[in-house]
Amino acid sequence: MSTFQVELKKVVDDSYEIEVGYELQEKLIEDIKNGLVGKIRKFAVVTDSIVKPLYAERIYRMLLLAGYQAELIDFLAGEESKTRQVKEYVEDTMLAKGFRRDCCIIAVGGGVVTDLAGFVAGTFGRGVPFINYATTLLAAADASVGGKTAVDTPLATNLIGLFNQPEKVYIDIATWKTLPKRQLSSGLAETIKHACLANYEFFEYLSKNIEKVFENDDAVCRKIAHENCRIKYQVVMKDERESGLREVLNLGHTVGRAIETVSGYRLLHGEAVAIGLVAAARMSEKFGYCTAEEAERVTALLDRACLPTQIPEYINREELVKKLYTDKKVKNGQLRFVLQKGIGSIVQIGENDFARPVSEEEAREVILAMK
Ligand SMILES: NC(=O)c1ccc[n+]([C@@H]2O[C@H](COP(=O)([O-])OP(=O)(O)OC[C@H]3O[C@@H](n4cnc5c(N)ncnc54)[C@H](O)[C@@H]3O)[C@@H](O)[C@H]2O)c1
Repeated sequence: MSTFQVELKKVVDDSYEIEVGYELQEKLIEDIKNGLVGKIRKFAVVTDSIVKPLYAERIYRMLLLAGYQAELIDFLAGEESKTRQVKEYVEDTMLAKGFRRDCCIIAVGGGVVTDLAGFVAGTFGRGVPFINYATTLLAAADASVGGKTAVDTPLATNLIGLFNQPEKVYIDIATWKTLPKRQLSSGLAETIKHACLANYEFFEYLSKNIEKVFENDDAVCRKIAHENCRIKYQVVMKDERESGLREVLNLGHTVGRAIETVSGYRLLHGEAVAIGLVAAARMSEKFGYCTAEEAERVTALLDRACLPTQIPEYINREELVKKLYTDKKVKNGQLRFVLQKGIGSIVQIGENDFARPVSEEEAREVILAMK
């Protein structure tokens, strides 16, 4: 018998730029011309049925005009499309159109598009580069930054995927103007989450200005776009693979992700997170990490952002409690919640541990109280 040692130590530089601004399509083409993805000349522009005519077609045409090969691939808009089947559809379409390893994927859309296209890019030909062009506040606030890509399964959201960092992220604030109000609110949930977990001043700023987002106020939208990115990348830079600190970004997501699935996607991701944030604030209050007044301030801000703060009547409470166990923070069958310390900080449980064990009874109590 003989043993071979395969030496594969790697130093990987996955650094990338996030560009925040208005109408960044031309900048994207200029960056590609200047070597953003090396010598690649073939692009798959992946988008959904709503974003296609609004923004993706223009990027596709600009690529052709600049002399690149490009194909536009779209799927039906909505969370229901974030599946293995739609991933397969995108892959098969790319293969049929002659795409091999020498290509780049440009994801143009919200979090569904960036999550799915980033996952395709991670496995197509064992990995091709991808670029995110975020067109929702939610994608700008969270989904397009940080390198988590995934699809949903019938059991729960985001269960199949990989860590895959984009070559660059474009956050085009001009695209928020066509977003329905409900979608803007959905993005504000992740924004409020960031303030709750990392920055009291930002929470105060949101408390003063949140309604201005609905008026497309330039200064407020820019501030929100920058602050979201800053908070998220500061965490991701320290713990890309969620071995500890990155769990803090899960504030509100234990109940949030579970209720999103149990609602059959009647609730948008951000709406589900908003309910989850209220649950987390109440749980934090219950364990003495924040005051009743602080928990109430979180609820009131979510309310002003036109987000739900109660569990809807149609949600089966017991099904919701059971669904909590599909959360990735569950350890040895034990539920674990990320909790906030006051406003602007997270409870640290131990070294590199940011999720507190919570019994099923404690979780049920908080859920039943949210009528
Ligand atoms: N990868 C991560 O770290 C991460 C973080 C948070 C959320 N997510 C995921 O993000 C997804 C939610 O993202 P989302 O809210 O952007 O969803 P989405 O991509 O479904 O977009 C919401 C809706 O808005 C439409 N839309 C997009 N841009 C538009 C525009 N500019 N004008 C008009 N309509 C527009 C879309 O067609 C869609 O109907 C969820 O799947 C969630 O799991 C991922």
